[in-house]
Amino acid sequence: MVRLFQRHIKRKVSLLDGIWRFKTDPENKGKDEQWYKNFPSDSMEIVVPSCWNHEFDLYDYEGWAWYATTFTTTERNINLMFHGVTGQAEIFLDGDYIGSHYGGFTGFEFLIKDVNPGKHTLVVFVDNTLDDMNTIPLARVDWFHYGGIIRSVELMELKTAWIKDYKISYQLNASFNEAALTLYVTLEGMNEEEISDQLNIYIDDELIKTVPVTISGEVKLQINNIVLKNIKLWDPQRPNLYNIQFELHKDDVIERIGFREIKVENGKILLNNKEIKLKGVNRHEDHPDWGFAMPLKLMKRDMTIIKDLGCNAIRGSHYPNSEVFLDLCDQEGILFWEEIPLWGYPDKVLGNKVILDRGLQMHREMIKRDYHHPSIIIWGLHNEIDTRVQDAYDLTKSFVEKIRAIDNSRLLTYATMFPLEDICLSFVDIVSINQYIGWYGEELDEWPEFLEKVKEKLRNEGLSHMPIIMSEFGAGAIYGDSTFEGPKWTENYQEKYLDYTLKLFKDEPSIVGTYIWQYCDIRTSKEMCLSRPRSFNNKGLVNEYRKPKMAYWTVRKLYREME
Ligand code: GCU
Repeated sequence: MVRLFQRHIKRKVSLLDGIWRFKTDPENKGKDEQWYKNFPSDSMEIVVPSCWNHEFDLYDYEGWAWYATTFTTTERNINLMFHGVTGQAEIFLDGDYIGSHYGGFTGFEFLIKDVNPGKHTLVVFVDNTLDDMNTIPLARVDWFHYGGIIRSVELMELKTAWIKDYKISYQLNASFNEAALTLYVTLEGMNEEEISDQLNIYIDDELIKTVPVTISGEVKLQINNIVLKNIKLWDPQRPNLYNIQFELHKDDVIERIGFREIKVENGKILLNNKEIKLKGVNRHEDHPDWGFAMPLKLMKRDMTIIKDLGCNAIRGSHYPNSEVFLDLCDQEGILFWEEIPLWGYPDKVLGNKVILDRGLQMHREMIKRDYHHPSIIIWGLHNEIDTRVQDAYDLTKSFVEKIRAIDNSRLLTYATMFPLEDICLSFVDIVSINQYIGWYGEELDEWPEFLEKVKEKLRNEGLSHMPIIMSEFGAGAIYGDSTFEGPKWTENYQEKYLDYTLKLFKDEPSIVGTYIWQYCDIRTSKEMCLSRPRSFNNKGLVNEYRKPKMAYWTVRKLYREME
């Protein structure tokens, strides 16, 4: 499963998902021994997509591993699209190195021209090692280091001219009933010959533009000011979507968009010029039996539960989500905050140029991949890095400049754990605060004083125009543990904690959104497991098998009462 709508009618696309050959490479000797040419005969079967951690004896394997499969093509030009491989990937076709990719949660593709029609061998080298200096994320994170080809692999067979890339941007008019589209389309063909073709553009099957084209190598087009009248807006109550199809004689691609505008004004978030309050949860893409590689049914189940809670928002903590889940958010009218896994970086690492470069690349890939999802209203720059220091200031400034240049249609923020000493807030649109007063320290009744200090800091720094989101707050509860005394780790304490905090935040005018930490219990990393009973982060409103705790019903009542 790649998307929830048909992406191609003419283009021949097949999923390479299924049973592949697999072998771990703990000594990292596979390259020297050229496993990519002669795959080891003592390899095992594995399902793609999946996390290798669910295979016997591989539960906590981290490191290097090799995958192999074969496929047959009838065309000379193919595009291999990998939707998610954890860590670093190197791709080999018929024994030849094709290319590599860094980053575990965004896809990548390799276009290969002039292959011989027939059977081919595809080998993938995966490295999901994490360290404390150069990787994103670092090894010390509060989620499990699942590894593998965690999302689908697609084979696209292309004719002599195809649609290589596109971007659909639009401006709404003042009355929000018209959209002026600007389309950026890149076409590609064989280098040596000129192809006369015709680019047809449809919106919901209605032909709106035809452009005669001559294609040789790569051709970039910009089509301005296609005006659509009487549009139906996208919003949580009416998530109207439109299919845009780009079509050549022998190729096509379909994208799905929604018309909406998001902005901040006078300390509020406005969606289509109407003030909204975000009623959210933080959701990891995690399930004990599937890891990151969740099937559609589980994603749909999560969406059903989250909507039952009365939520209108989800933060995809802490990495780019499956495109399938983002399609669900588009269809269900859920407002989404998406971010890259730049989690908890201390000062000593933030000055490392590798982290800046890799972070920028991940942001670029996330925005490129997910630009057209109307549900995404916020790009999160990072989570709980040390935003008290100059290196964080420089990194945040660089991220904001580069991201705004690619996409100035969404709000930018980051989750800070140092709101009172933070020196980076002026770069973003929203102040998003992670705070666990009453859990990791202090007492619950110290929250009001903390909020006053935050507002005083923002006033003193001329930032009191910024809306505030409580991006993380919560308490751990072991599912099924309920006592009269209600100490920490009981469901009683978690219910009391969330009842108190949600009521407090609801009545605070400068707070425009709350994202409870967290939707469901998740496995944590071996680096953090001693501080986490069961080696799980137990702050879920539901446990890892999506069974509701006591707090679920309190949150459901409060979120449903809020407008
Ligand atoms: C942090 C972090 C989360 C983590 C949570 C917790 O704020 O962002 O990823 O799981 O706190 O401590 O439970």
